[in-house]
Amino acid sequence: MGEPLNHTTFQSQESVMSGPPRKVLVTGATGFIGAHVVDELLRRGHVVRAATRDPGKGKLLKDARLYYGDRLQIVQIADFSQAVSFKDAVKDLDGIIHVASPLDYTAQDNEIQLVKPAIAGVRAVMEAAGANLDVKRVVITSSFASVLDANRKSPPHFTYTAADWNPLSYEESIAKETSAVVAYRGSKKFAELEAWDFIKRHNPAFDLVTLCPPMTFGPVSHPVANIDKLNESNNTLWKVASGQDLPVARVPFWVDVRDLAVAHVEALLRPEVGGSRFTVASPEKFSYSKVADIVRAEFDWGEKRVAKGETQTIDESHDLDGETAAKDLGLRYRSFQATVKDFIKQAVEMEQK
Ligand SMILES: NC(=O)c1ccc[n+]([C@@H]2O[C@H](COP(=O)([O-])OP(=O)(O)OC[C@H]3O[C@@H](n4cnc5c(N)ncnc54)[C@H](OP(=O)(O)O)[C@@H]3O)[C@@H](O)[C@H]2O)c1
Repeated sequence: MGEPLNHTTFQSQESVMSGPPRKVLVTGATGFIGAHVVDELLRRGHVVRAATRDPGKGKLLKDARLYYGDRLQIVQIADFSQAVSFKDAVKDLDGIIHVASPLDYTAQDNEIQLVKPAIAGVRAVMEAAGANLDVKRVVITSSFASVLDANRKSPPHFTYTAADWNPLSYEESIAKETSAVVAYRGSKKFAELEAWDFIKRHNPAFDLVTLCPPMTFGPVSHPVANIDKLNESNNTLWKVASGQDLPVARVPFWVDVRDLAVAHVEALLRPEVGGSRFTVASPEKFSYSKVADIVRAEFDWGEKRVAKGETQTIDESHDLDGETAAKDLGLRYRSFQATVKDFIKQAVEMEQK
């Protein structure tokens, strides 16, 4: 098998590829973001151990990347709601990119299904890193959900940065009356805090970088059985393109999954960014009517099929800093048009299969 075609062209001008290849544990590797992180590492010559709860999914991930031979290994781990440990999974490795976290907007019990497992996953990663002196850095996929303050309103105009934290309390996050969307925001906040607290309490030999991306869109490289099994964020794009629904964006911020994968790998490799928290976001804002406009303009079937609805105005009252990450991690963000076009083209092919 040749090199997978859906590999992206690395955009950074300042790729750090000096030194020997890294050996990296990637959790959530069978998911939307994790698979792109795996691909970015493999493409650059690193060794990847991909963690999954499901060996079947691991096999699909591996079978699509036979080109890389032994540089891609699969390891089975437990669900984060059980007693999970990464100590064996991280043996002989020198870095961890922890992407996995529960995301289930149908959760009935916020604490058991979302908040506790998210924290437990991070705790297990930090403990495994602490017990393995070869591990030099842990990178964690947090989220803009751990930055956002849903009650913060303008005027005056403001810009969210990595210094901001979601003010949700643990009690609010787990309360019965709290929606799963809000509980998820709490799960990301308290999971990320768990990691930073570990660093404070233990002063370990490794350091930490956390990334807080907003809505993440773009072509998929993970195993997706069919178009109905898309991840949550891309599914909203598909709803627009396939005429099902014109959702309203909770926030106008987004990033392309390929740019985010580059950010993860740069966050792992650049010595000087140890101890940093980054918001990783395109400077261009989005709305779902913008998605509809792009589909109409880019695809000859677009006009007929795309979801109808009133033009949504993009909320310009505040911004999210993606420039610091761009500068420190050497990123160049793709345009929303390119992201939507690349993903919808792939989604149509999936639908036709
Ligand atoms: N997609 C977005 O728009 C977005 C935006 C901001 C932040 N994030 C964050 O990015 C990360 C990845 O998101 P994604 O969109 O790639 O999600 P995804 O496609 O659902 O992948 C997440 C992976 O995590 C693993 N996982 C989920 N629940 C788990 C649990 N309870 N125990 C152990 N493993 C579990 C699963 O792997 P296995 O089934 O193979 O075990 C799954 O493939 C998450 O931390 C999420 O919070 C996502």
